[in-house]
Amino acid sequence: MSNLIALCPGSFDPVTYGHLDIINRAAGMFDRLIVVVATNKSKNCSFSPEERVNMIKKCIPHLPNVEIVHFDGLLADYAAKRGANAIIKGLRAMSDFEYEFQMALTNKKLNPNVETLFLTTATENMYVSSSMVKQIAGMGGDISGFVPEVIREDIINRIKK
Ligand code: PNS
Repeated sequence: MSNLIALCPGSFDPVTYGHLDIINRAAGMFDRLIVVVATNKSKNCSFSPEERVNMIKKCIPHLPNVEIVHFDGLLADYAAKRGANAIIKGLRAMSDFEYEFQMALTNKKLNPNVETLFLTTATENMYVSSSMVKQIAGMGGDISGFVPEVIREDIINRIKK
């Protein structure tokens, strides 16, 4: 019996409707989906790993086959540890592609047992990014079109500090 396990990694600082669309779709494709809140060395995050994990948890109580974890090492090592078959990434535009392609090839080199799969983002989320959400929240704007209601206060309270 096959047991397909995928990782969905990212900074999720904070999670947006764009990420949640990818998580929802990937959860339907795999037996188990592990959302990995990971460290991107080129980003300074506004939320702690625990805050990021908790915000994702609040957004997806309806997905029983999804686990949300924080992992602070190499994704390729975590994939091996969890026996994952795939890494799922969302692609918004061609501008994402070069960076994602480089990461996919690197992860494949580090762990040949894991394949990176790209899902194209829904058209309505093409321009959504965590940094835009933080910028809008920081200037008192309306973030309701970008993140679910259950985490809006968390974001606004944090960004205002
Ligand atoms: O949402 P992001 O910031 O584009 O996600 C990037 C992330 C966190 C998935 C990537 O930086 C990552 O996998 N970090 C874990 C450390 C690692 O494995 N680095 C080598 C990647 S080739």
